[in-house]
Parts: sequence; C-alpha cells; structure tokens
Amino acid sequence: MYIAMVSAECAPIAKAGGLGDFVQGLSRELAVRGNAVDVFLPYYALSRLESVAGLREIDPNLRVPFHDQWLSCRVLGGAMDGVNCLFIDPRSPHGFFQRGRIYGEPDDPERFAFFSRAVLEFLLQSGRRPDILHCNDWHTGLIPVLLYEVYEALGLTRTRVCYTLHNLGYQGQVDESILRQAGLDPRRLLVADRLLDPRDGRVANLLKGGIVYANFVNTVSPRYAWEIQDTDQGMGLQPLLKTHAHKFGGVLNGIDSLVWNPAVDPLIPVNYGVNSLPRKAANRQALRTRLGLREVEKPILAIVSRLDFQKGVELMLHGIRYALAHDSQVVLLGAALDPVIAARFARLKEETDPNPDCHLELGYDETLAHLIYAGADLILIPSLYEPCGLAQMIAMKYGVVPIVRRVGGLADTVFDANYSDKPFEIRNGYLFDDLTEAGLEGAMSRALGLWWRFPEYFRQLRVNGMRADFSWSLPAQQYLDIYAHLCKQEPT
Ligand code: ADP
Ligand code: GLC
Repeated sequence: MYIAMVSAECAPIAKAGGLGDFVQGLSRELAVRGNAVDVFLPYYALSRLESVAGLREIDPNLRVPFHDQWLSCRVLGGAMDGVNCLFIDPRSPHGFFQRGRIYGEPDDPERFAFFSRAVLEFLLQSGRRPDILHCNDWHTGLIPVLLYEVYEALGLTRTRVCYTLHNLGYQGQVDESILRQAGLDPRRLLVADRLLDPRDGRVANLLKGGIVYANFVNTVSPRYAWEIQDTDQGMGLQPLLKTHAHKFGGVLNGIDSLVWNPAVDPLIPVNYGVNSLPRKAANRQALRTRLGLREVEKPILAIVSRLDFQKGVELMLHGIRYALAHDSQVVLLGAALDPVIAARFARLKEETDPNPDCHLELGYDETLAHLIYAGADLILIPSLYEPCGLAQMIAMKYGVVPIVRRVGGLADTVFDANYSDKPFEIRNGYLFDDLTEAGLEGAMSRALGLWWRFPEYFRQLRVNGMRADFSWSLPAQQYLDIYAHLCKQEPT
C-alpha cells in the first residue's frame, strides 16, 4: 500500500510533543511491513535533518494557488529509516516556516493552510496517487476538505483519508478568510454540517472540517474516543462525533522500540533491561550528577512534559512540593508556550534552585529526557485530559513507575498496584480520579510508601511495566486494517 502521512511534526526532525513520536513510530512500522510511506512536513528552519539521508530538491518550483495568486515553493526529499520524507519549503514573503518554533505564531492558520494546499498540489502535479492520506490534528484538517472540494475533480480520485485526532484542545478555529486563501468557498462551507464552529458561529473550525470530510476518523486511545463522544472532553464536538460515529474509533498509540528502549538507547550512559535492572542505578547517579542533585537514598520523582493547562499544571506544582516534603528528589523537564505558566515555573525554579533535592529544567531537551527516563524511579502525569500520553509508556519501558490521573490513554495503559481488576503481573503504577490535591496525595503517598517500605514489591511494579507490550506492532496492524477497509470503498 502507498501511504502519505501528513503532519506538523515528526521526530527527530521536528518535535514539540507526542505527535512527533507518533508520526515517526507509526510510519517506520508501516514501512518495515513493506508499505511505501511518504511523510510530508513543513521545511522548518529549526528542522533537525541529521537523520535524513540523501536530502535533495525534488521540485525546485512548485506553484501553489494561495490567496488569489500562485505562491512558489521548493519540495525537498530524503530518506529516514525506510520512510521517504518530503519537505514543503515556501518562498513566501512571510517566511512561513522560518521561525524559531513549530507552533504559537500569530499566522499559524495561514502557515498550515498553505502547507495543506501545497501537499495536495504536489501530489497532483507529481502524479503521485497515494492509496491513503493519513492526516493529523487541526493543522492538516483542510486536506480532506480540499481533496473532496477541489482535488478529486482534478484527478485525485482514488485516495482515501484517515484523520487522527491527537488533541481536541486545539481545533484550529480560524477566520473565514483562511478558507478563501486556501481556495475554498466560505459561503458553501460555513454551515452547521460542514466547517462552522459549533461554539462560535462566526468562525471556521478546521478540526471539524477534517472530521466531516475524512473517510475515517480516529483518536489515539479507546478511552479518549469514548470521553470525547460522551463527556465534556469533547469540547463542543460531542454531537458531531456522534453523527459520524459510524466512521470513528480509538486506536491506542505505540512507542518506537528502537528510540525508546533502555537496552539499546545510545543517549543514556548505561544500557539495561528487565534482567539487568541493577544497572539502572548508574543512570540514576549520572542524572544526579548532570542536574546537581545530591547523592542520597531517596526516590527520584520525574516530570517530563509540555507545561500546558492540559497537563494539570496546578497538580504538578503541588506534586513537586509534596514530593520534596516527603523524602523524595524531584526533576522536571518542561517547556511552556503560555507566558503565565512559564512565569509560574520560573518562580518555582528560583525558589527550589538552592535545594539539593530538586532541579527544574525549563526548556526542551531530547537527550536530557532520555537520561531522566533512565534515571528516575517515579513519573507524575496529573493530566486534566490526555488523548493517549506517551510519557507514561516510555517511562514504564525504562522501569519508571507512573502516578497518573485516570483519564484518556493514561487509564488505558496504567493499572493500579492496589485497586486494579487486572492480575498482579499486569499492574504497573498508581491512578487517582479527583482533580484535587487530596486525590493526588492519595496516589503519591501509596507510591512513595511502597518505594520506602516494600522495595521488592516496587521492583516488581517496575518489571511489570517494562514487560508490557507498548510497541507499534498491534496499533500499526489496526491502522492497516482501517486503510484496507477504506481502499475497498467505492469512489464518492
Ligand atoms: P503530548 O504529546 O501531549 O505532549 P505525550 O506524552 O504524548 O504528550 O508525548 C510527549 C513527548 O514529548 C514524549 O516523547 C516526551 O518525552 C516529550 N517531551 C515533552 N516535553 C519535553 C521536553 N521539555 N523536552 C524533551 N522532551 C519532551
Ligand atoms: C497529543 C496528546 C497526547 C498523545 C499525543 C500523540 O499531543 O496530548 O496525549 O499521546 O498527541 O498521539
């Protein structure tokens, strides 16, 4: 099968969070199984291209209709792990992707609307006819809309779209002018059963557009699939998802077992596995040295996260203080886009910097993330909502015991040490329900208590997490089944 994956992120080239891991891991697994896979990405100035072999110009002058004119762009291509990476590099006077970050620019809607149009234009002009276009999040929500409103009539007739929702907190609510720029007619599309935003009757909702027009829609865990149809986690899209329930489902993410595997990880000082768990201690020591923590008999509680409202900022701050007050060390690695959240963590950092048991690293650092997973004992993820969550799965692979809120994919992957209905050898962490300090403390005190009082049982929890299968093997097969089903559909 020929699959074109389209995304704003792909690790390690351009990653802000789990979307980057998702695209890298799923694409590689699909390619390993003999499928032809193209990954389309914007050509960001900040792209890390070391892992892309043979990067070259594929089209020096692709002309893309945009905003009543033709905007010229280059298309570059290279290979990464058996996957073909294609980059869209617009020669726009606004330098669409010549910015210091992937998201958070005031013209994000224009940037990704252009990217979406350019991908389809490239497919059309280059004669490429993928069986499946796999689009992700609001950034590429216009692709299924453009495919069926414009490009099908121009010749892209056989391609079917699978659209994956990674986060309903970002829906791409944009002014109708964005539709016009992309070459669409707002009068036709700004209606209730197409792109009109369900909560603000003046704007278009690109995520909604993707849901309406795609041939199949999924989110990244079965539990989140239920939550967004039947609870307020749907953030206004519940009725729409119910309407389209016949083409909607949940597929739990995997993690890439070459990237996230302590037995082979080149970014950690000492490799280890289930049968050599004592070697993890050397990584704990290296982590302490790297971050200036004192060498002491205490568990290390980690947070590796985007510092975003979604991730439970209040409970994170409380959890850090609670851990420090209860004989633990704390390391946090996190980046905030929101200036208010950034300022709160900067204040806490100033306050805790003199404490030899605490280090907050405010920024994005892939290598340090690997060292933290390798060195930590516990990880805290108190999310308000969590479509899947990869951090808990990565952590478990590294023998780190997760303390998480029972939402979304966290609830599908973490099974409580004390209260799960699963057999003992499947239990792997601690869960809490209430979004309150007391709720969090209940789970934290159980986890810390086990570390101090029953080290053998704590070791067994680590082992249970390391043994779980979080690979892409099963989810990739589920996506292939979805693709196969779509390919059998008659043209519309
Ligand atoms: P989300 O996609 O919502 O951010 P996930 O748990 O799915 O959450 O994925 C987060 C990914 O991003 C993981 O690979 C995690 O290690 C990584 N990550 C998050 N914050 C940072 C950071 N500050 N530095 C390095 N890696 C980070
Ligand atoms: C989003 C979600 C996260 C998920 C990731 C990859 O960023 O917040 O829960 O794991 O996408 O699907």
